[in-house]
Amino acid sequence: MNTNDVAGELQGRHIVLGLSGGAACFKAAELCRLLVKAGASVQVVMTEAACQFITPVAMQALSGRPVYVSQWDARPGNNMAHINLSREADALIVAPASADFIAQLAQGRAGELLPLMCLARPIERVPLLIAPAMNREMWAHPATQRNLRQVAQDGAQVLGVACGDQACGETGDGRMLEARELADELIAFFTPKVLAGQRVLVTAGPTFEAIDPVRGITNLSSGKMGFAVARAAREAGAEVTLIAGPVSLPTPRGVRRIDVVSALDMHEAGVDIAQSAHIFIATAAVADWRPATAAAHKIKKDGSGEAPQLGFVENPDILAEIAHSPRAQSGELFCVGFAAESQDLQANAQAKRVRKGVPLLVANIGPATFGKDDNALLLVDDEGVSDLPRASKRVLAQQLVAEIARRVSGFAA
Ligand code: C5P
Repeated sequence: MNTNDVAGELQGRHIVLGLSGGAACFKAAELCRLLVKAGASVQVVMTEAACQFITPVAMQALSGRPVYVSQWDARPGNNMAHINLSREADALIVAPASADFIAQLAQGRAGELLPLMCLARPIERVPLLIAPAMNREMWAHPATQRNLRQVAQDGAQVLGVACGDQACGETGDGRMLEARELADELIAFFTPKVLAGQRVLVTAGPTFEAIDPVRGITNLSSGKMGFAVARAAREAGAEVTLIAGPVSLPTPRGVRRIDVVSALDMHEAGVDIAQSAHIFIATAAVADWRPATAAAHKIKKDGSGEAPQLGFVENPDILAEIAHSPRAQSGELFCVGFAAESQDLQANAQAKRVRKGVPLLVANIGPATFGKDDNALLLVDDEGVSDLPRASKRVLAQQLVAEIARRVSGFAA
């Protein structure tokens, strides 16, 4: 499984996908497809206005179920589509949610099946997520912002909007989030918030140590594990900062990312952020040494056949330094190290845990994980050793976050 794959992420969930009118309806088609791919059953409900932008037939084909539009639809035996459909849902997501639709919600209006369902749903049991989509002026209008506040106060989760080109030709805030972002929001929504209130710092990827302006020393770390850990921590309710070495992976939604190049950059950012973090997970493959001096200009062959002599100095050990800081020592900051070994996993990991001074060390076989989408982990703490058997990095990251959450709740106590 690819770390970005949605397969199985919403297995067994029943989602009502509501569409109100807007050009963003085309993204709802893709969202429907992604939700089905993620294992959810999807019931589409459309407003009359949405039917101007995309047909119920298209949405039926994608969801595999007849679409509902009218509250007078006679198909349900009891003639109460609004009750039946809203009660069986694990969540109701309206995407796109137009300015008019949001205004209807804010007022508790029920003139059509979709707003009627939102009103008729049992608030405590069936969450409502809305993905606004509208022109930037409509988005910025005080009436819309007032309605959004009201809707959020009434218990709906208002998802953000993106900034960019709009169907009307203008540019600004109000674009609906992309289908993949909405699917990720829904997946995050269902994740138990075991790290709520925690500030988590993750380092990820390799570092690059310059030799001259065009060359340097780096390693094969892909950053995939660290990015998956950052995503899982955010989904678990944490406020996550991800310090990333040079990798081209997309930033997980809702995660603050700081891009760095060298170990010294990562050290500076890491020490700073760690001062206010509760959990530090060091997945980065930090270069142990850097060239003593980086040449200002490209080092040229001089024709003598002699290779340039490179001197090295040791980089600071970010993890060991932070793990020995007063906040980590007093239990305010829980530090987790990673170790990529090539042999004797357990013995090396136990020794490294002591050397780094961390309560939890996660070991894996380096050559078997770098660049791959799956991995197997060995967790070493003061109680001993446990396995997280081979799985996708996505699944392992979720399991690791659960393991950390369990230890952190005991750690601070
Ligand atoms: O010593 P080694 O590189 O095997 O240690 C691995 C662990 O220490 C990882 O968690 C890595 O992110 C962290 N580390 C660090 N700074 C370094 C070297 C390693 O934070 N300079």
